[in-house]
Amino acid sequence: MRMYDLIEKKKLGQELSTEEIKDIIDGYTRGDIPDYQISALLMAICFNGMNVRERYDLTMAMRDSGDILDLSSIDGVKIDKHSTGGVGDKVTLVLGPIIASIGVPVAKMSGRGLGHTGGTIDKLEAFPGFNVSLSEEEFIDQVNSIKIAVTGQSKNLAPADKKLYALRDVTATVDEISLITGSIMSKKLAAGTDAIVLDVTVGDGAFMKNKEDALELAKSMVDIGKRANKKIAAYLTNMDEPLGYAVGNNLEVIEAIEALKGNGPEDLMEVVYALGSQMVVFSGIETDKAKARALMEEAVKNGSAYAKFIEFIEAQGGDATYAKDINKFSPAKYVIPVNAEIDGYVHALKAESFGLASMSLGGGRETFDDVIDMSVGIILNKKVGDSIKAGEPICYIHANDQAKADHAKDMILKATVISPDKCDHMKLIIDIVE
Ligand code: URA
Repeated sequence: MRMYDLIEKKKLGQELSTEEIKDIIDGYTRGDIPDYQISALLMAICFNGMNVRERYDLTMAMRDSGDILDLSSIDGVKIDKHSTGGVGDKVTLVLGPIIASIGVPVAKMSGRGLGHTGGTIDKLEAFPGFNVSLSEEEFIDQVNSIKIAVTGQSKNLAPADKKLYALRDVTATVDEISLITGSIMSKKLAAGTDAIVLDVTVGDGAFMKNKEDALELAKSMVDIGKRANKKIAAYLTNMDEPLGYAVGNNLEVIEAIEALKGNGPEDLMEVVYALGSQMVVFSGIETDKAKARALMEEAVKNGSAYAKFIEFIEAQGGDATYAKDINKFSPAKYVIPVNAEIDGYVHALKAESFGLASMSLGGGRETFDDVIDMSVGIILNKKVGDSIKAGEPICYIHANDQAKADHAKDMILKATVISPDKCDHMKLIIDIVE
């Protein structure tokens, strides 16, 4: 069938067959179908959606557009964890070493930050010398020897997604559930693990702003994972305020190191233990989530999680003396408090604005080519639900440029809601889809 007819079919709300979807994805990846026709198809999908069979076919066609990692030479159940993105999200840095220290193989491909959300690969580069481009052989050998390796996404993993994502980004077609499912799940399936735990963030700083949309996305991804014979679960986690207290690369790495030493913020640890205990259960090391959590807590308490982190940084060529002495991370030039103007309770610290404020200090990227300033960011002094007095800091801005700090301060004040009424702390785990 001609591409014109396939666009027409979707425009009329009809189903595309398995072969048609495969031909479209293959043709587009090869460069045989032009952007303008795919743009029209994407918009028709936005209006008419795709059923579960079409979503599965889309995901598999995108997965098969490039390399599929073969991790069969790694012993045990290989597990991946993926977050749909957040502000202050350093979960992987804490969770990975904890579960690796109790024997769960962590073979993780991570991304860089873009826009107001951060990326694990950038954070790991806080350790001078850390290699984020392992070969497949190095990656597998490292997981076999120390149970954890984290590398950047290989260039030829789901190349169809790279092209499609760039096109969706400029045609207002990013936020459709079938397309997000295909994009995320094609990469997860190509990464070759046996089990996947998804952290679907919900709220101001997340892709999905409300629970209903997040739940629909979570169900869609879990459904596709199961059809592909993977063990899979999705956790809906709160992203209305930043996770933990630190936003910005070095600041988040320092918070993660402290968390591994047993001094982690409550909200961060809640997410780490929830996702991690699911991963431990998938690994078969424990069958009960509460017991899995207890194993993780013990690994933090007895120092084995922190020791695993040091081993992991060293194995990938990073200078682990930074983890042993956090004063080695270069600090920003200025540390400026942002003070409350009235007494009351903190009702909102809007995560997206805090992420954008950190980005405006130089801590994030607008395009993939931007270079980030590792030392800047924000340290919260209060979380939603805390009481605060006029003149007390809401947070501290870490900046290298006074004008940028002034701008970030304006953004933070606009993103903070303080009111005299009492207010609860945020619930972290909103729902679980299994
Ligand atoms: N993250 C992805 O990788 N793809 C999407 O479509 C949305 C979020």
